[in-house]
Amino acid sequence: MTVRAAVITVSDSRAGGGRDDASGDVIAQRLATLPAELISRELVADDGDAVRSAVLRALDEAQLIVLTGGTGLGPRDVTPQAVLTLLEYQVPGMAEAMRHEGMHHTPHAMLSRQVVGVANGCLVMSLPGNPRAVGECLDAVWPALPHALALLRGDTRHARVSSDQEAPPV
Ligand code: MTE
Repeated sequence: MTVRAAVITVSDSRAGGGRDDASGDVIAQRLATLPAELISRELVADDGDAVRSAVLRALDEAQLIVLTGGTGLGPRDVTPQAVLTLLEYQVPGMAEAMRHEGMHHTPHAMLSRQVVGVANGCLVMSLPGNPRAVGECLDAVWPALPHALALLRGDTRHARVSSDQEAPPV
């Protein structure tokens, strides 16, 4: 089933124009394999209101929103706090899995405050800004992503199968 997806790149320098959006490209290419239909792609500055507005626009139609950038510790890094104001609940395991995978590549992965959660039935993932980090983070969540999206659509079939396979009580 094709997923309606949106990509939001959060970066002062990219939003100013004239520079490639390599991180957004990595996400768009990966989403195509899901498969996903890219319904929107935006570049916004590192500004909380701009990030919130972009996510709210995408939430109208998207089932999956992937943001990149602004997750670090700098004074202009505001993406996680902006996204958190819109989430109904978090999916901490997906963010933890991404940081865990990243730590195999660089200790700096622990510096990303990336968050994953759900708003309006849509899975919202906020990834670091570095294109290599984006690839590593997507690698980490990719095996569970189709099932996460199925659960959000209300399809619990796989969940029942796995609970049937649980060991019987002793
Ligand atoms: N995560 C992975 N998997 N790989 C990386 O190379 N780089 C980190 C981190 N997360 C990295 C990573 C670095 S250097 C920073 S500063 C933080 O993400 C935050 O990046 P951001 O502010 O561009 O979002």
